[in-house]
Amino acid sequence: SISVEGLSAADKIIERSLGPRPRTKSICPTHSYVPQGIRPTVIVLVGLPARGKTYISKKLTRYLNWIGIQTKVFNLGDYRRRITSETSHDFFNPSNLEAARVREECARMALEDMTQYLNSECGEIAVFDATNSTRRRRQHLLEHCEAENFRSFFVESVCDNDEIIEANILEVKINNPDYQTVIDKEAAVRDFRQRIDNYKSEYEPLDETLDKELSFIKIFNQGERFLINRLDGNIQSRIVYYLMNIKVNHNRCIYLMRHGESMLNQMGRIGGDSDLSERGRQFARQLGAWVDERNTRDKPQLRVWTSHMRRTIQTAAFIKTRHSLEHWKALNEIDAGVCEGLTYEEIEAKFPDDFAARDKDKFNYRYPGGESYGDLVARLEPVIMELERQSHVLVVCHQAVARCLLAYFMDIGHDELPYVKVPLHTIIRLTPAPYGCRVDHFDLDVPCVNTHRDKPEESPDEAEDEAEHAEAGDQVGRCQWLSQKNINARNRTVSQTLPQLSAR
Ligand code: ATP
Ligand code: F6P
Repeated sequence: SISVEGLSAADKIIERSLGPRPRTKSICPTHSYVPQGIRPTVIVLVGLPARGKTYISKKLTRYLNWIGIQTKVFNLGDYRRRITSETSHDFFNPSNLEAARVREECARMALEDMTQYLNSECGEIAVFDATNSTRRRRQHLLEHCEAENFRSFFVESVCDNDEIIEANILEVKINNPDYQTVIDKEAAVRDFRQRIDNYKSEYEPLDETLDKELSFIKIFNQGERFLINRLDGNIQSRIVYYLMNIKVNHNRCIYLMRHGESMLNQMGRIGGDSDLSERGRQFARQLGAWVDERNTRDKPQLRVWTSHMRRTIQTAAFIKTRHSLEHWKALNEIDAGVCEGLTYEEIEAKFPDDFAARDKDKFNYRYPGGESYGDLVARLEPVIMELERQSHVLVVCHQAVARCLLAYFMDIGHDELPYVKVPLHTIIRLTPAPYGCRVDHFDLDVPCVNTHRDKPEESPDEAEDEAEHAEAGDQVGRCQWLSQKNINARNRTVSQTLPQLSAR
């Protein structure tokens, strides 16, 4: 039986745990910062349980936010868990009408929040992560999108490979919140399989003929094959391009690091193309030995990527896998334009306005004649795509570049990104996990300078300004303020990445 009495009870429970749900609908006037004619998009996931829908939703959302498109996932399982603690397979049986009513209510609430996000909170893409396995449910979503003037795009994951499904159940499902209190793991697996059977009984996959008017991608067996129908516009093309490139591979590592300490690092000067210092060369030698040990042991296929700059090439010089050494211009350090070769103190003295502007909005600030972090994200998109396709890769890059790459893997927002700490002489190992990645640091213990400059404290005036905008009831004001902050990022990251989709 279900632990709520009905719809109003469900709402009460939500209100108790989350505070009052917003009931009013206000149209956000700031969608104007989205390129003209672009409507918000709802990405609707489709598929049986344990088909990787949540994995795809989270990963795609991380990518879209990284390239500067405001995206949020609405996971129906989360809504269900807030309303009821019921998780047994019987709850998902289509003939259980009481449960069906609660499930419908969860969908309604998620849809309402999603609509609020797209209309009033400056969201550009909402990802509706649920099974959406019947044509009736999808029709309802479509009608809602049409009424709200949202585009819709369907992503279906189809998987009939028993080994993959078994692995998914064991890897994520029996450890998810639904089975946290179940001690008998085999019983949990059995229950989950019955849940899948319940969904199967009424599952209607997207159909080339019946659904020919819809925009969708069908992904078969983790990307063995794809079916794409009626792609509508740039955002959908980018989503499809991304989904076709990501490989599910949990048995690989990405090693990310900066070059060894350079001569200019020692002098506190930014940019340039100097050689390694003696300590930098020592790091390079130790790195060679460190990689050698691991590479011969368990990673014979390791690829090594550097930038075109001397300090990264010199850092990789002692790594023996030279047959797979590649130099990417896209990995070059941020171009500091007129500030190249200066110390931070010299920049502050020579270009005080620029120095202050960078402190105010470091992600969007572009050096005169140089680049911003937003530009860097755009330049690094092909690197990310290639990293997604490869298995073991060791990347020797630079401070700003490493921050951008880490932000993608660790889901760090644009405000925090330019302040991520990436010390010299430290190897960062990223190991993919089902919904994110594990991060380990290896400090090779070679002395070096610290090149990190912390985010300066906000002045009291600025803090007050921000607090005013954040005040309750000032939704629209905050929205406009946020959009002002994002407008440059969007113009730069979205439009500038377009021609670079396949450039390397
Ligand atoms: P549910 O409907 O129960 O929420 P789900 O479809 O959202 O299930 P996930 O929780 O995303 O399933 O399953 C995660 C697992 O799916 C991960 O272990 C991941 O390796 C795997 N996976 C990722 N992509 C795919 C895919 N295209 N097909 C099948 N499995 C995938
Ligand atoms: O100081 C080393 C360095 O790699 C410079 O070449 C580069 O301009 C800088 O770091 C980037 O860091 P930040 O964006 O914090 O100035």
